[in-house]
Amino acid sequence: MKPIILTGFMGCGKSTIGQLLAQKTNRHFEDADTVIEQRSGMSIPRIFELEGEDGFRKREAQVFAELLEDSSLVLATGGGAVLKKENRDLFLKKGIVVFLKAEPSAIYERVSGDDHRPLAKGKTLEELTALYESRMPYYKECHICYETMNKTPLQCVNELQQLCGGIL
Ligand code: S3P
Repeated sequence: MKPIILTGFMGCGKSTIGQLLAQKTNRHFEDADTVIEQRSGMSIPRIFELEGEDGFRKREAQVFAELLEDSSLVLATGGGAVLKKENRDLFLKKGIVVFLKAEPSAIYERVSGDDHRPLAKGKTLEELTALYESRMPYYKECHICYETMNKTPLQCVNELQQLCGGIL
């Protein structure tokens, strides 16, 4: 068994789908951002404020290295986890990497006005789309590129279970 690693832009459904997928496959679920918050005793916005994006990325990489020792894991990564090559290499080596694809316009609807996401805060649809596009080459370094648009979380989970099962 290998960990299933969910990547994708903010608001694409990594946590919702990840929790359901873990339940359905009797795996253990972790959300990397939640683990970072628990360990640091700080919220994600506070970490960005005190340590900048660099500080956050260092914490994030440490958490990935540790959590991915668990082969029964379903991991929801943060949207920017793929920025570090070190993380992308680790993901591909250790697990089944799934990119959850969603339209920038739908993502904008979900994340605009959310105070908990420093890199989305105050961004226009155009700015958010540009950030998404800049990350797309990294998201594409995955085993499974999965389209989530116009599907319910349950439908995504059923299809992903089949797709991952075919690889594992
Ligand atoms: C980030 C996404 C967030 C969180 C942090 C940075 C990003 O996670 O890790 O705010 O760079 O896209 P979600 O994708 O769960 O929102």
